[in-house]
Amino acid sequence: MSHYPDLANKVVLVTGAGSGIGQALANRFADQGARVAVNDVDIEAASRTCAQISDVGGAAMSVPCDVASGEQVGVMFDQVESEWGHVEVLVNNAGLVGPMLHFFEANEEWWRRIIDVNLTGHFLCSHRAARPMARAGEGIIINMSSGGATRAHRSFTAYDATKGGIEAFTRALALDLGPYGIRVNALMPGSIDTSGLDADQRILRGENVPMGRIGEPFDMTGPALFLASNDAGYVTGDVIKVDGGMLAQQRSATVDIMPPSDFPPVEDL
Ligand SMILES: NC(=O)c1ccc[n+]([C@@H]2O[C@H](COP(=O)([O-])OP(=O)(O)OC[C@H]3O[C@@H](n4cnc5c(N)ncnc54)[C@H](O)[C@@H]3O)[C@@H](O)[C@H]2O)c1
Repeated sequence: MSHYPDLANKVVLVTGAGSGIGQALANRFADQGARVAVNDVDIEAASRTCAQISDVGGAAMSVPCDVASGEQVGVMFDQVESEWGHVEVLVNNAGLVGPMLHFFEANEEWWRRIIDVNLTGHFLCSHRAARPMARAGEGIIINMSSGGATRAHRSFTAYDATKGGIEAFTRALALDLGPYGIRVNALMPGSIDTSGLDADQRILRGENVPMGRIGEPFDMTGPALFLASNDAGYVTGDVIKVDGGMLAQQRSATVDIMPPSDFPPVEDL
């Protein structure tokens, strides 16, 4: 596994880091020696992630808030700045995945809350982070998209709209902030098990993935470190797919003409 010495001591803020992908990202950045501000709307969840980091000697600070509130986001950044200085790497990970509603069940409240958390949350945190980064002449913003930005999920009209918006936002923000030394990219997770699926569900979901397995939160961490590191110094406005090949495929293996079970065994090659 790669190690990025340039991430040591960096001030990294990960939103929605109380569980799932955000928690894995927070732990992996801390493992590189970064100082990690752990945000979540769920105060206890944020504290749990902080405890995981400090238990192994890492530097973590709990900064719970609702990323959909500009006021709360401002207080959160003030808190990080007063302890550690300005945020050098912002990971906009917080997102509401559900509830799933068919379009005929949807209502304005549902639509607005998902847009507020997923899309406006990205705007508010990036907006607050960008000026101090620009003054420093460098900074990293990593956004969190989804396959839904490109190929739709059923009963996810609001969610998919936010993810398409996040990819467009990523490109537009990269143009505005590039001259100030700030790189802006997005990660696009495929099917990542963050809800503790049982063994049968994991197999079923994995059959739909060219790599033959569902993703784990840890699978997201290497690409995030790369984007935050100097190795990605000329990468901006990009979306990196971390999906085991899902978006590359036309049909799932289970319905394809030649299922993987018909492939010649490696020893016959
Ligand atoms: N898991 C997947 O398969 C998958 C696929 C594509 C995209 N994603 C994206 O990855 C990100 C993380 O997803 P996950 O699967 O880890 O989800 P998760 O539900 O496990 O974690 C999301 C975290 O965000 C927090 N959160 C929710 N609303 C918030 C708010 N208003 N302010 C601050 N924190 C808030 C939640 O409390 C939770 O801890 C999301 O943006 C999601 O859309 C996930």
